[in-house]
Amino acid sequence: MATENLIWDIFIWVKAFHVIAVIFWMAGLLLLPRFYVYHSTAKPGGELEAQMLIAEARLMKIIMNPAMVVAFVLGLALIAYRHADLFSSAWLWVKLVFVFGLIGFHGMLSADRKKFARGERPRSEKTYRKLNEIPSIAAIVIVIMAIVEPF
Ligand code: HEM
Repeated sequence: MATENLIWDIFIWVKAFHVIAVIFWMAGLLLLPRFYVYHSTAKPGGELEAQMLIAEARLMKIIMNPAMVVAFVLGLALIAYRHADLFSSAWLWVKLVFVFGLIGFHGMLSADRKKFARGERPRSEKTYRKLNEIPSIAAIVIVIMAIVEPF
């Protein structure tokens, strides 16, 4: 019984830190495309561009990359504890499809950041405004899957 309680305690702490990491990751995924909207219209080589490059690099390297790794690793630990029988939870698969979509989106933002750093303008301001909606929609689906577990 004592061991069961300990394992449950570990599970809920891991889940708490999973959700904390997810919040930091999502904050970056929502903010970075917004930074790119401003960056796309900044004068090449100007003061605003220099400031945006620093802000983008810090957001990606200090917040987004570590938060994504922590969310993913703790998420896998949660699967191992409670959902090792992967085939009994369809909601988990739907969640994972959207999570991999977010990882791909993260990769695209990372590639664009390197292009901005080389002085390029990878996409238009309008495109970044539209791309901004992707993480919002994915987060809504993922949270409903994780909490409601509809199927
Ligand atoms: C990175 C890969 C991810 C994996 C492998 C993963 C996996 C999991 C697992 C297995 C659980 C435990 C479910 C349970 O209580 O039995 C969980 C909880 C949760 N996850 Fe994730 N997740 C990931 C990313 C995300 C993302 C991106 C979000 C939100 C945008 C999210 C939101 C949540 C929430 C809110 C809970 C708590 C659910 C509850 O206690 O009812 N997860 N996750």
